[in-house]
Amino acid sequence: MAAGVIPPPLHAHRPTWAEIDLEALAWNLGLARRTLGSVPVLAVVKADAYGHGAVEVARALEKERVDWFGVALPEEGVELRRAGVTRPVLLLGGLAPAQADLVLEHGLTPAVFRADQVEALDAAAGRRGTRVSAHLKIDTGMGRLGVPAAEVVAFAAVLARSPRVRLAGAFSHLAAADDPSDPFTERQVELFLGAVQALRSSGLALEAIHLANSAAVTDHRAAWLTLARPGIVLYGYPPSSKVSPLPWRPVLSLKSTIIYLKDVPAGTSIGYGRAYVTPRPARIASLAIGYDDGLPRLLGNRGHVLVRGRRAPIVGRVSMDLTTLDVTEIPGVRLGDVAVVIGGDAEEFLGADQIASWAETISWEVLCGVGARVPRLYLRGGHPTVASRFGRL
Ligand SMILES: Cc1ncc(COP(=O)(O)O)c(C=O)c1O
Repeated sequence: MAAGVIPPPLHAHRPTWAEIDLEALAWNLGLARRTLGSVPVLAVVKADAYGHGAVEVARALEKERVDWFGVALPEEGVELRRAGVTRPVLLLGGLAPAQADLVLEHGLTPAVFRADQVEALDAAAGRRGTRVSAHLKIDTGMGRLGVPAAEVVAFAAVLARSPRVRLAGAFSHLAAADDPSDPFTERQVELFLGAVQALRSSGLALEAIHLANSAAVTDHRAAWLTLARPGIVLYGYPPSSKVSPLPWRPVLSLKSTIIYLKDVPAGTSIGYGRAYVTPRPARIASLAIGYDDGLPRLLGNRGHVLVRGRRAPIVGRVSMDLTTLDVTEIPGVRLGDVAVVIGGDAEEFLGADQIASWAETISWEVLCGVGARVPRLYLRGGHPTVASRFGRL
């Protein structure tokens, strides 16, 4: 979408929006695949596809014949099914036992790591006269969820008592893969393969075994196994500055518009807490975006946005719906000018990773933080479509 213009499908909305470039998304999937050779891909689309919109992202990736989807919650899996997504969906975070019927009803594949999950799935499958496939989540060092690697054989006894639950796979999650020099990843791979071997020796077939997040796709070949689970690279960002660089294309741009412009004398205070006082006469622009929309509050008096292809400093505190800029040094700024918060304008580019470094966080959190009230404009070829929480206005 041309910089500096509010796209017509958004004319009834507040002039703040995210553009999602579905061609860049497809490119990133292609790049992951070229890197992985024949290893199939599970696209991680949890947390509303890292803020990009799970339904539209999953539909676009399904068109590219992605092999699997991964979400955190059963609810997220149901959302995909209701939107007509048919590929297998793995519930990476497991399920609450009370959700077992929901999981079966929608043909989702749960991760399991607690006996009560397996028992609830077995009972739900019994009520339906069917069986359910699950993947065992194994803890090899992340230390959050999963059966400890040393205890998987004992856990297999629970599965043996639950004949309607078929263990079709096993997986684990890497804790430090974004630092390729950290030997911890190698230890996790070894522990995982040992646990898989033990499970196979106890008679479980386990067709799918998987470990690889984005960092492992680029830098830990030994973790690829039978399925890779990239997330952040599909959205266009490397997991850290230490991994091998590949030409990922950022998918999301966040834009807003100057809705008030004024010239003020030196000594004028701007915003909450009077955290900025103009040191000289200044031209101050108010932008229709705040921290609820995904512009982190920590960027106050610290970050920049792009106006007319140049960096405009954010002055004063970022508030919930509004952000103030000093545009004194940028010639020709007008009411209605579009500002780029994440994305490119002329020669300049501000990535989610740059916002993350100003906000002392990571690009994942910046992308997930793009607010639910921000309409998403999906771009593929010449036909943009809008998804908005407010529906058609
Ligand atoms: C279990 C699991 N696998 C894969 C991923 C994808 O990670 P990344 O976004 O670093 O590729 C995640 C994301 O947190 C995850 O929780």
